[in-house]
Amino acid sequence: MPHALITGANRGIGLEHVRQLLARDWTITAGVRAPEAADDLKALDPGDGRLRIEAYDANDLGAAAALKAKVDGPIDILFANAGVMGPSRQEFGAAASEGFLDTLRTNTLAPLALAEAFADQVAQSQLKVIALQSSRMGSIADNDSGGRYAYRASKAALNAVGKSLSVDLKDDGVVVLILHPGWVRTDMGGPNGLLTVSECVEGQLDLIARANPAMSGRFFHVSGEDLAW
Ligand SMILES: NC(=O)c1ccc[n+]([C@@H]2O[C@H](COP(=O)([O-])OP(=O)(O)OC[C@H]3O[C@@H](n4cnc5c(N)ncnc54)[C@H](OP(=O)(O)O)[C@@H]3O)[C@@H](O)[C@H]2O)c1
Repeated sequence: MPHALITGANRGIGLEHVRQLLARDWTITAGVRAPEAADDLKALDPGDGRLRIEAYDANDLGAAAALKAKVDGPIDILFANAGVMGPSRQEFGAAASEGFLDTLRTNTLAPLALAEAFADQVAQSQLKVIALQSSRMGSIADNDSGGRYAYRASKAALNAVGKSLSVDLKDDGVVVLILHPGWVRTDMGGPNGLLTVSECVEGQLDLIARANPAMSGRFFHVSGEDLAW
């Protein structure tokens, strides 16, 4: 039975990944900050042992290694999805802040720490995919509106991390996908997003199902188009 480890799985896009993968008979390890409060996630539990919920705080650099101690066996999809928009003040004049560092910790270092902790288990699986939930806002080429320093920089740095992972893990057969989910109606995306979580996740799972070495280290829109760095 294929196995996915997904962070930020208690709401938004991560929760929908759990829902759709459980419906496809996958086993899921769901990493969440507050398991006791993850009611929407618990409501998806089919009760047959395929959903395991583990504590995971992306802001804690030791969290990936602690999670590793609890997760056995091959991992077909390691999905580093948890992310934050960062501090409320990110405009020029207020952008250089401690909150910027926290944003880097959650959005950039945590996915790298997960990849370092779990690459061996991904390499033992059938699908061998590491998916990084990036954002088009991390595209330097696409930035024509400025601002959002912390969020943009954290996702641009995540893209650089993903590219290096694709090179370093190539010989292990691991495919690293750097994904922009589209503008999605979640707490982060807001009510005006262009996609529902269901549409977004269907698209992302289609992309992941097509994963192959030629796709590794590339930055994809959920539509399957390549995005400019
Ligand atoms: N929605 C969009 O339009 C959009 C566009 C581009 C990229 N993205 C990316 O997609 C990913 C998911 O976003 P979303 O739209 O689903 O946002 P969301 O609804 O705000 O959900 C964010 C998820 O990340 C988790 N998270 C945040 N900080 C965490 C931490 N320190 N430790 C563990 N989990 C943490 C949250 O858990 P808590 O409930 O504990 O806070 C929540 O499960 C993010 O990486 C985001 O940058 C979203």
